[in-house]
Amino acid sequence: MSVPALRLRGVRKYFGSVSALEDVRFDAYGGEVHAIVGDNGAGKSTTIKIVAGIHRADEGEVLVNGEEVGQVRSAADAQAHGIAVVYQDLALVECLDIAHNMALGNLPRKFGIVLDRRRMEREAAQVLKDLKVRVGNVRTPVGLLSGGQRQVVAVARAVRMNKPIMLLDEPTAALGVQETAHVGEIIDELRASGKAVVIVSHDLEFVFSHADRVTVLRLGRTVGTRRVTEVGREEIIGMITGAVPPDRPDDPVHDYEVA
Ligand SMILES: Nc1ncnc2c1ncn2[C@@H]1O[C@H](COP(=O)(O)OP(=O)(O)OP(=O)(O)O)[C@@H](O)[C@H]1O
Ligand SMILES: [Mg+2]
Repeated sequence: MSVPALRLRGVRKYFGSVSALEDVRFDAYGGEVHAIVGDNGAGKSTTIKIVAGIHRADEGEVLVNGEEVGQVRSAADAQAHGIAVVYQDLALVECLDIAHNMALGNLPRKFGIVLDRRRMEREAAQVLKDLKVRVGNVRTPVGLLSGGQRQVVAVARAVRMNKPIMLLDEPTAALGVQETAHVGEIIDELRASGKAVVIVSHDLEFVFSHADRVTVLRLGRTVGTRRVTEVGREEIIGMITGAVPPDRPDDPVHDYEVA
């Protein structure tokens, strides 16, 4: 088995005296979709934000392609490590249009200074077209879009960054049936192009149809990781609720196919 694109080990995080994460670990591989599931407050978004550079871990390791990256210090640092993120709660900028939102953090410039608006709009339109996303004109302010449309734009924005590691926190939470299927197709394509895709989702149906592996978090700890082909919903639900005990910390669940 190859080196994981993203590996977390023993990640801990306190918010003041609140322990949000106690021991989070998982391995996400290129060419795979890795789902992270768990109840509300289990620590999924906090985990994503640590990898994304929004929060700093108090303990533990984050490795990208087998190399310890120390702390991811900022969103720009995450990008430099090849990580693109769609957040659950850090929305787009409402007063900016679709094209501008999609380019945030990576604005095309003319002569190194002036915003190249035409290029920005052309690129945004191209990405949306490639992804078959129909949200009308790229000059539409994001504030005028529906929740579902915004979410699709947020996914498109991360796809545009074209990074080897993609983190998506609840990418389908606000979506209807058709949009959910569409995001599922986009995720399948990202996997086919070799990216390591990490999705946080409450939708076990979506997880079972699009993920290769699933890691369950409970009360800030990794309960275990399973291949979706080797696990049933009952077991996953049991892991989420605590009915199924956690794997022992020394169980090599993440590496069980290593020769
Ligand atoms: N900025 C913060 N300050 C203080 N506590 C926080 C902060 N962010 C998260 N927490 C706490 O950390 C714990 C984990 O929260 P987190 O948002 O990671 O859960 P989650 O698994 O993403 O839940 P959900 O499924 O509801 O999105 C919760 O107890 C939450 O209250
Ligand atoms: Mg969350």
